[in-house]
Amino acid sequence: MTEPNNLDTLLKENRTFEPSAAFIAQATVTDESVYQSASEDPQAYWAQQASYLSWSKPFSTILEWDPPHAKWFSDGVLNVAYNTVDRHRENGRKNKAAIIWEGEPGDSKILTYDMLGREVDKAAHMLIHLGVKKGDRVVIYLPMIPELPISMLACAKIGAIHTVVFGGFSASSLKDRIIDADARLLITADAGFRRGGIVPLKQNVDQAIIDTPIEKVVVVQRVGADAHSTMIDGRDLLWHKLIETMPKTPFAPEPMHAEDTLFILYTSGTTGKPKGIVHSSAGYLVGANTSMRTVFDIKDDDVFWCTADIGWITGHTYLVYGPLSAGATVVMYEGAPDAPDRHRFWNIIEKYGVSIFYTAPTSIRTFMKWGHDIPQSHDLSTLRLMGTVGEPINPEAWMWYHEHIGHGRCPIVDTWWQTETGCAMIAPLPGLIKTKPGSATKAVPGIAVDVVDDNGTPVTPGHGGNLVITKPWPSMLRTVWGDDERFRKTYFGQFSGMYFPGDGAHLDEEKYIWILGRIDDVMNVSGHRIGTMEVESALVDHPAVAEAAVIGRAHDVKGQAITAFVTVRDGVKTSPELMTELKNHVVVKIGAMARPEEILFTAELPKTRSAKIMRRLLRDIAEGRALGDTTTLADPSVVDSLKLQYQDKE
Ligand code: WT7
Repeated sequence: MTEPNNLDTLLKENRTFEPSAAFIAQATVTDESVYQSASEDPQAYWAQQASYLSWSKPFSTILEWDPPHAKWFSDGVLNVAYNTVDRHRENGRKNKAAIIWEGEPGDSKILTYDMLGREVDKAAHMLIHLGVKKGDRVVIYLPMIPELPISMLACAKIGAIHTVVFGGFSASSLKDRIIDADARLLITADAGFRRGGIVPLKQNVDQAIIDTPIEKVVVVQRVGADAHSTMIDGRDLLWHKLIETMPKTPFAPEPMHAEDTLFILYTSGTTGKPKGIVHSSAGYLVGANTSMRTVFDIKDDDVFWCTADIGWITGHTYLVYGPLSAGATVVMYEGAPDAPDRHRFWNIIEKYGVSIFYTAPTSIRTFMKWGHDIPQSHDLSTLRLMGTVGEPINPEAWMWYHEHIGHGRCPIVDTWWQTETGCAMIAPLPGLIKTKPGSATKAVPGIAVDVVDDNGTPVTPGHGGNLVITKPWPSMLRTVWGDDERFRKTYFGQFSGMYFPGDGAHLDEEKYIWILGRIDDVMNVSGHRIGTMEVESALVDHPAVAEAAVIGRAHDVKGQAITAFVTVRDGVKTSPELMTELKNHVVVKIGAMARPEEILFTAELPKTRSAKIMRRLLRDIAEGRALGDTTTLADPSVVDSLKLQYQDKE
């Protein structure tokens, strides 16, 4: 089976793949000098990229940089919804499919740019009717249905700030985000479909909004009769009933300053509390739009499918703002890849003639496990370019993707980026760059990255260190919502003047970058970012637990799986039932994606003499490695008993 990335396998990887002549012949970017010119004058490069947007007042300043705060195009005025929807209604794409939506049960819907525009305008009228004003926060907790992008774009149209919460988050996580964002309106659905089952979103909302500022809840009916929840008079409103009563007149886009906040998206960090990443209007959209043209080589006749959920940044940028700003056709799929069976993704590609496909390494490894005869029984000849995102891709999965999905014909763009960066930062330009399985290659034009040692000194080729971004870029986060100090410390506190994303990387002799994964206390489980501290806080919240230490261990499909080491309170008896209860407790506190794969009860946790939990040691135990230095342990016998217990488990 597959091995997740480790330095040994990466360093042995020496295959390279040049783009084909056929791909180059049609590619948008084929002039190599763009790298040179953009690095000599990044501001001129980004100003030129900004000209692909429609501005109601053009900018005269490009960048104001007062580290760590950047302002881009700050005296410019535009509206993001106008740029993603309305201008395409005016420029000949009126009847072009904007969103091709496929529901999990098999229903589908196509929204042209004109239809999408009318829906967004009705929703914008509805927000105003509900008292939402420019700058107010609106929390959106929806499944992958058209009302999700429609709600986001309606917020953008009126200048409200959306904060989308992934439907897999629990009531308790939703509540934390509502409170932090201080939102008064929430948009949800009665429930969502997932792998044939039903996700009770409205029930979660009912719990989550107790003791929060939420005054009104708009409920989209997705599931219907099977998903009854009580509607509270005066608080809960049905989307379809309310929308019907709204004016059918166009809604005039609110003129927004370039630096006005477009959205907040929460992500995990090294401490217990998720942080609200703040993105700007113009800079974010310039980044998203640029990468569609340069990295994804988007053309008017492409059908672009990004399989991510819009609840994550990948969905924000590559299902909504990127493709729509480019006037592209985007496929949006509601459900799981194995609903009703394991042919679903390839059926969708065939049905809609998908030409660009963007998914995560964990999905690719799942498809590998299911066997290549499944995709082989489908016509995937419309594909011309494929991407991956979310975690390092192991060369074996890259090769499988290349051979069995791309049939050796499609370049692969491995895109490294983060919630904070807004759009792809390190990725090949597919018509220009030879690719290497497992490497995201080089920074895209206009982005300056480096690999530095712990003192901030750049490493020489052939060495590894910390990945940094050395210059500001338009789609960078502007701050952490309500906590600018945390923004400063987390991202600019390690290496002065440079942005530190938390990833380790290796630089090869050709200066290709090989991302090695997080080097902080953040896990990456199936491409989802989860803080070890978050899971630990959820565990110690349970009355039986005295102490918990959580690590991400290598897992052949998920990339990492969560292992929790738990000590119980005096008098508590450990049992398989307690184990299940604790796993469920984490699901209730955070969401299903944070469920520990295994819990090990231990009398004590390995600690240094200064009482710091030695996570590295726990990871060595969980991954069955020879233990490194244990001399700093306060009580070395703790480790032996843990090792024995872990072996017993297997
Ligand atoms: C972290 C960001 C924006 C993408 C979705 C996840 C890891 C992301 C790659 C890649 C290696 C990757 C990093 C990063 N990551 N893409 N192509 N190769 N690692 O966004 O939840 O903000 O997580 O995902 O560790 O720091 P996110």
